[in-house]
Amino acid sequence: MQVFATKSRHSQPITHFYHIPKQGLTPCGCGFVLLHIKYTTMKIIGTGSSHPERKVTNHDLAQFLDTSDEWIATRTGIRERRILTKDNITDLAVEAAIDALNNSQKEPGQIDYIICSNIINDYLTPGLSAIIQSKIGTHCPCLDINTACTGFVYALQLAESLQVAGMAKNILIICAEEVSKMVDWTDRASCILFGDAAAAAVVAPGDNLIKIKTDCIDCGDVIISGSRHEKTPFDTEGNDKYFPLAMNGREVYKHAVTIATYKIESILKECGMAHSDITYYLLHQANLRISEAIRTHIGEDESKFPSNIESFGNMSSAGIPCLLDDLNKGGKLKEGDRLLLCAFGAGFTTGTCIIDW
Ligand code: UT7
Repeated sequence: MQVFATKSRHSQPITHFYHIPKQGLTPCGCGFVLLHIKYTTMKIIGTGSSHPERKVTNHDLAQFLDTSDEWIATRTGIRERRILTKDNITDLAVEAAIDALNNSQKEPGQIDYIICSNIINDYLTPGLSAIIQSKIGTHCPCLDINTACTGFVYALQLAESLQVAGMAKNILIICAEEVSKMVDWTDRASCILFGDAAAAAVVAPGDNLIKIKTDCIDCGDVIISGSRHEKTPFDTEGNDKYFPLAMNGREVYKHAVTIATYKIESILKECGMAHSDITYYLLHQANLRISEAIRTHIGEDESKFPSNIESFGNMSSAGIPCLLDDLNKGGKLKEGDRLLLCAFGAGFTTGTCIIDW
């Protein structure tokens, strides 16, 4: 029987026992062997990001929408966002990936797996991760996920699972989003929120992930967008299922504040931590008022809630890794800083994790 050392994720040592078919290994009483598995926990070793060139201010939007800088800034905290024009999401994703690789001092050949969080890009297939892979010159498995704005936390959880399963060590996560291509630019209540961006992180085995949790509650219609289907000889009616992003802003707002506050309190409790143990809370950058409401419930200082929404808007899953990259490159993170990430999005998906820098 092979026995691995127990690893500690936080102060308590964690032991995982798995029953596996015996296949020649020493059996225990029930005909199975007891395998004591080392639980590796990851570390973020590099970050990167890339934004489109074109800045679109609230004043620019007021040129074609019945809105104002004052309304948007007061209700959302957003002043401007970047929107793809001649540039494209693949190039942004590749730039963010290379930036993160450089920052992590890893070569593309050292990457064992690529996970890309993405809702929409130029192709239905192949997946964006496969396109990124060919452009950065790796030859590893790659996988696209779509958990909307929660994508970065889901990707971290998948990455950890791959590490624990012994399938991969160094994993490149890219969140590449061009929500501008799926919103209705006549709907002033939604299009004013979003910006395009790509952000990336490289994770490696380490001891820094304390806890990660994801969830999805059935609330599919508060943020929803339809995709185009080809007509078939067998289904000639109702094929055009395309419709731009439709959102019940007030419902999203309520869900986001209630669920995120609950998830943050729960993960802290499960880890036996206090609010004050967290150096920074990195919340999904959806709306500054949402972040403010969550912060007020938690009762922590504004300085612990960094934000980039004023300059970039809601970048869906790219928001948190982009913020992480800002903090990292801005020299705001030091070893041992404890980060609590909390994201929420269409689905309604949520993801929360505590990870040390
Ligand atoms: O990743 C998650 C993505 N989604 C979100 O984060 C959305 C969360 N929700 C929100 O951010 C807010 O609900 C919004 C910013 C979308 C809307 O703010 P609100 O305070 O909930 O406004 P409302 O929808 O209750 O609308 C209030 C008024 C309405 O006018 P009337 O009916 O009172 O005359 C709207 O038509 O504001 C009007 N309005 C606007 N006025 C100027 C809605 N959008 C705009 C606009 N400019 N852009």
